[in-house]
Amino acid sequence: MAAEKTIWKKLIWTWKPESEFEAGDSIVRNLLLHWFPSKITFRSLSYRYSFWLGTASAILFGILTVTGVVLMFLYVPSVERAYASIKDIEFAVAFGWFLRGLHRIGAHLMVAVVFLHAVRVFLTGGYKNGVAANQNRPLNWIIGVVLLLSTLLLSFTGYLLPWDQLAFWAITVGTNIALAAPVVGEQTRFLLLGGNTIAQGALIRFYVLHCVFLPMLVLLLFAWHMWRIRKDGGLACADQLALDQKQEKAPPIKSKTYSLLGIAGTRTVHVEAALVDEDRHATPASPSLTLRLLVVILATVLLASLMTIVVEAPLEEPANPAVTSNPAKAPWYFLWLQELVADTTVRVGGLTLNGALVGGIIVPGILVGLLLVWPYLDRSSVRSAGIWFGSDRWRQNIVFLIIVLAILILTIVGTYMRGPYWGLYWPWETWPDLPRKF
Ligand code: HEM
Repeated sequence: MAAEKTIWKKLIWTWKPESEFEAGDSIVRNLLLHWFPSKITFRSLSYRYSFWLGTASAILFGILTVTGVVLMFLYVPSVERAYASIKDIEFAVAFGWFLRGLHRIGAHLMVAVVFLHAVRVFLTGGYKNGVAANQNRPLNWIIGVVLLLSTLLLSFTGYLLPWDQLAFWAITVGTNIALAAPVVGEQTRFLLLGGNTIAQGALIRFYVLHCVFLPMLVLLLFAWHMWRIRKDGGLACADQLALDQKQEKAPPIKSKTYSLLGIAGTRTVHVEAALVDEDRHATPASPSLTLRLLVVILATVLLASLMTIVVEAPLEEPANPAVTSNPAKAPWYFLWLQELVADTTVRVGGLTLNGALVGGIIVPGILVGLLLVWPYLDRSSVRSAGIWFGSDRWRQNIVFLIIVLAILILTIVGTYMRGPYWGLYWPWETWPDLPRKF
């Protein structure tokens, strides 16, 4: 009975703490909330700093996990039965269309929101260290880049599972890009597909990667990502307060310790607190943070649900390797790459410049490489950490925004303006009728 009471106490908390002690205790002792600080700066809570995009990414991942687990009871990863099981989910299972739709929309939204979160972090210099000891925000940025790549892969591996024409040809285009990689291209594609063609071997590999390996990887990286934020003394925006305070020559504030998982009685985890005057600039996380979290959870679930009702999840004819989709398009988040591949394939006389190598491997390779090392190349002052458009980061912000804009434009062109044989068409133009190729 006593144990039950203790477990219950670890799971619930008060939304209306009556004292500072109760407010702090409801966070530190709670199993679900213990990884938050007991006090948080007003700046970190502001919607205008982070837009809570990282939090929204985590909530979308939660929605995907819940809907994905239920879908696993209904979906059969076999070439003969995959399409039929998706059709059953869509048309026979009660609210199956909603379940599948929410999973699908959630996946698209997660790719977009994680991307926007990375853009926000870059533009605010959120990867820069401040003044507190033991900070390593560049490492957290690198964890973030791996999270972004894992999110893309998670979505890409799920794309094949319906085993319809859309899935089959999108994955054909996507995996063909890997072929252009020098030396290891063919082996990489073979490893991914479990053969040279997209068949049962590919379906089961994508299924296991999608349902087990990649979600676990994202979960582990996410836990590390959050842990680093605590170790770094919170979000970078709070560091400006610490800097101001340092100039005022206020005495430094001690670091803190918290109990591990909120379960262990002993104080085991050492967390460096930001050097901020908490009385002036911070508020108890319960209920200020918990209430905002609730708002973001409700808003994300509501938006994803509404979009699920409005946007129908596509299901084309069953996959048929003999009937090529024309145009065959990669998933939308890889369309900028497909567009780059098309645009960098140049034929001069008998000579062909391989676009897949330039657009599919070299350019994205350089971009990912630059992303990984950028925090170490950025020499701007500590004053531009955690500030939107910091004054001495304007050059890098402009170059970054130009690259983001180019990716967006290429994605829009690839999505709305490419027709048969990758020809350019305005969205209102009708495509010519094509004879079906067998
Ligand atoms: C599954 C993907 C991700 C999840 C769930 C996630 C989650 C979060 C959360 C909850 C925060 C706290 C602030 C906020 O809500 O915006 C945060 C901060 C941060 N994230 Fe992410 N993140 C992800 C991907 C990324 C990516 C792709 C990057 C960068 C390439 C990144 C870099 C960072 C950094 C450096 C911070 C600290 C920013 C600051 O102090 O201002 N994260 N992340």
